[in-house]
Amino acid sequence: MTTAEPLLTLDAVRKDFGARTALAGVSLRVAPGETVGLVGESGSGKSTLARLALGLLAPDAGTVRFAGHDPYRLRGRPARTVRARLQFVPQHPRGSLNPALRAGEAVATALRLHGTPRRDRPALVADLFEQVGLKPELVQRYPRELSGGQLQRVAVARALATGPDLVVCDEPTSALDRGVQARLLDLLTGLQERTGLAYLFISHDLAVVRRLAHRVLVLRNGLVVEQGPAAELWSSPSHPYTRALLDAATGGSRASDPITS
Ligand SMILES: Nc1ncnc2c1ncn2[C@@H]1O[C@H](COP(=O)(O)OP(=O)(O)O)[C@@H](O)[C@H]1O
Ligand SMILES: [Mg+2]
Repeated sequence: MTTAEPLLTLDAVRKDFGARTALAGVSLRVAPGETVGLVGESGSGKSTLARLALGLLAPDAGTVRFAGHDPYRLRGRPARTVRARLQFVPQHPRGSLNPALRAGEAVATALRLHGTPRRDRPALVADLFEQVGLKPELVQRYPRELSGGQLQRVAVARALATGPDLVVCDEPTSALDRGVQARLLDLLTGLQERTGLAYLFISHDLAVVRRLAHRVLVLRNGLVVEQGPAAELWSSPSHPYTRALLDAATGGSRASDPITS
């Protein structure tokens, strides 16, 4: 695959839950090494789009392709290879990490599922902890003994364990304090610079998305109402909804934004 080809493609994707339309025809592309931001208020369809991209849900119409495969229909041997390239960082790591497993075991489990031989796992776990800025001794801790920021770093380490090309991050910093949030975003940016991985980065907060997204799509009621380079959306939003998201992100004044000031 050449770098010109997108890694992830959604074409006119629709998803209904009963009478409720979560996505009404959304198209989106993520190229290798790129960060695409997806922003929208609660209920706009962001998590539904994430689950479709990850192959956890099937679309009612339209197509989803990751590296040329439909991620929902992957079965058998290709499933493991392709899934390893497509990973997820959830909003609430406390809910997605097994409380009975130590942090190091959680990452080792991802390696085991990926087929990494047992003897190679401890060194790789240590390397992954170092990559995400966690002290080596934290491998022994249970999730309840870790802070929200540390848990998110474990979630990132687990996602990196299989050497992904794309990581879907669904509101990964929304449960964190501002300072912890900023450091996690710096970590994600640094990892991208080193490894060239791509992100689909989802948040309700345009200020957060702007920090790392190259391009941003604005989702409202299951439709993309605006898209463009992050800096452009930030400085001159054309849709009133984007302006409202911007006001929400800055408390009504861009000058008071801790990121720009
Ligand atoms: N499993 C589900 N069953 C029924 N409705 C759902 C389900 N998942 C999402 N929805 C509905 O779809 C819409 C979009 O939800 P979601 O994708 O979670 O939005 P967001 O992540 O932007 O908050 C909402 O109205 C939500 O209630
Ligand atoms: Mg959501």
